Amino acid sequence: MAEIIVVTSGKGGVGKTTSSASIACGLARRGHKVAVIDFDVGLRNLDLIMGCERRVVYDFVNVVNGEASLKQALIKDKRFDNLFVLAASQTRDKDALTREGVEKVLKDLADDGFDYILCDSPAGIEKGAFLAMYFADQAVVVVNPEVSSVRDSDRILGLLSSKTRKAEEGGRVKEHLLLTRYSPKRVETGEMLSIADVEEILGLKTIGVIPESGDVLNASNKGEPVILETTSDAAQAYDDAVGRLLGDNRPMRFVTVEKKGFLSKIFGG
Ligand SMILES: Nc1ncnc2c1ncn2[C@@H]1O[C@H](COP(=O)(O)OP(=O)(O)OP(=O)(O)O)[C@@H](O)[C@H]1O
Ligand SMILES: [Mg+2]
Repeated sequence: MAEIIVVTSGKGGVGKTTSSASIACGLARRGHKVAVIDFDVGLRNLDLIMGCERRVVYDFVNVVNGEASLKQALIKDKRFDNLFVLAASQTRDKDALTREGVEKVLKDLADDGFDYILCDSPAGIEKGAFLAMYFADQAVVVVNPEVSSVRDSDRILGLLSSKTRKAEEGGRVKEHLLLTRYSPKRVETGEMLSIADVEEILGLKTIGVIPESGDVLNASNKGEPVILETTSDAAQAYDDAVGRLLGDNRPMRFVTVEKKGFLSKIFGG
């Protein structure tokens, strides 16, 4: 059985695509067969972050329209044999995806033995975002610790509990909170909301806290999901999040301000 996970948010630009790429890699690194799909029709982005943009010949919309087979359109990752990317189309037709078309692609992936299908949602509450979440079993709700991002996430939670197939069948999409661009320093000074604040406002449990890190941009410029930059705090935080998604119990790291030690206080550093 394939597990369908949507990576979603209310507000745009909070780190969905960054997180989709890293979570997909983290699951593949543990041996699972993973497909990651870019639902952001018109704005291809995932293939850039995954570093496969030059290999895109056919995309998601081509498959939905029957212009290419799923096999032709799936791009095998160059690092992991069990990881595949389905790129978004650059068409300007925002209605190019249909519910039936998306359902068929997801079913074909499941029949093909994929363990996890990650759906990288576009921002907002338009059709693309709706289709990305509709068939989901689980949702990773990406939130930045600031009021506008938290407020917009509330709307997505409303949709997850009413406009998904699970909801229509009387069930529930399993929701997780992924806090990204977290800066312990700015939380301490009160500029940012704390983990507890966000959890309380949204009523969600945190699956991961990804620190604000310059490594994220560096990695995406290289076409390398940041989780693979193993020495980076952001990479380790993403790996922890993947572990928790699979049921591990791990303490949160990188969530407090690093106190300077005695020697560095004296000598600087
Ligand atoms: N932990 C982080 N630290 C620093 N920068 C980050 C972090 N996470 C994401 N970013 C940056 O934030 C920007 C938006 O990230 P990303 O494209 O993943 O967001 P998105 O939610 O997919 O956006 P959209 O809504 O447009 O699809 C990028 O420039 C990315 O490098
Ligand atoms: Mg995106």
